Amino acid sequence: MSDDTALDKARKQKKDSAHIIVVGNEKGGSGKSTSAMHVTISLLEKGFTVVIIDLDARQKSLARYIENRKTYAEQHRLKLTIPDVHVLARSLEGTAIDMEQQDKTNFTLLLDELKGEYDYILVDCPGSDSHLSRQAHYVADTLITPINDSFVDLDMLAKVNPDTYKVEKVSLYSEMVWEARKERALKDRGTIDWIVMRNRTSALDAKNKRRVHDALKQLQTRISFRYVPGFGERVIYRELFPKGLTLIDFKNSNKDKMTMSHVAARQEIRKLMDDLKLPHWNKNSPPVPLK
Ligand SMILES: Nc1ncnc2c1ncn2[C@@H]1O[C@H](COP(=O)(O)OP(=O)(O)O)[C@@H](O)[C@H]1O
Ligand SMILES: [Mg+2]
Repeated sequence: MSDDTALDKARKQKKDSAHIIVVGNEKGGSGKSTSAMHVTISLLEKGFTVVIIDLDARQKSLARYIENRKTYAEQHRLKLTIPDVHVLARSLEGTAIDMEQQDKTNFTLLLDELKGEYDYILVDCPGSDSHLSRQAHYVADTLITPINDSFVDLDMLAKVNPDTYKVEKVSLYSEMVWEARKERALKDRGTIDWIVMRNRTSALDAKNKRRVHDALKQLQTRISFRYVPGFGERVIYRELFPKGLTLIDFKNSNKDKMTMSHVAARQEIRKLMDDLKLPHWNKNSPPVPLK
């Protein structure tokens, strides 16, 4: 059976089962929205239907990225894939308990509305702990955590001994993911595939790169995530935002010439997409069935 037919069949059989990708960590500026955008456009280009939930209602980086994309497509008469977008702001009414309850309700209602309509739901989280962000982690099928290439960012996962890289203390964020995994197993025996990706790795600092790599290798068995290479530090990631473009679009937009760095960046994105092992993404990767 071809992949397309299998996907169509899966869609018909279970119409309430979008695969939920959550991009999260508790740190701003680590590349969540940039990664979320590239994953979304990669999925759309492959023919999947995708909806975004932007939980970072203060910055709305991902929603703005998509707005820029719409504008750029109109201005340059380009046919670009555009995902549907919902921005969900945290509730500010009543006591702390009221707000938590309202956030839970709002998130659940939105998810219920969307999960029968799309193949993928992609949730972009703010860089701080919030009830909405927690709710998202509790329903994730795939969790992507980008971290910048430094021990400061590693601290978000665990405190590691600087000499031996042994884990000394698991961080609050890792504990939260642990809780989410427990809840998930109890609720529907589901699992969360947690992927930690490095972002902004620099070829200039080979020693640091190696040390962070060694530390992550130790960490991945201790706190059960899959560690994947991710993206290098490249100016192009910053330049694409105002146009709403991704490296996947270069063949469609044809406006800008591709440099060696762009080609390498596009390879990194393709590699990430393969590493994610999403349902029906790649015939050669072990199939992850649609639930
Ligand atoms: N690999 C990269 N190379 C260069 N700049 C990057 C890279 N990834 C992200 N950036 C830039 O870093 C800033 C923060 O990224 P963003 O995706 O908004 O992070 P977050 O959503 O985690 O706050 C943005 O200006 C973005 O363009
Ligand atoms: Mg962001």
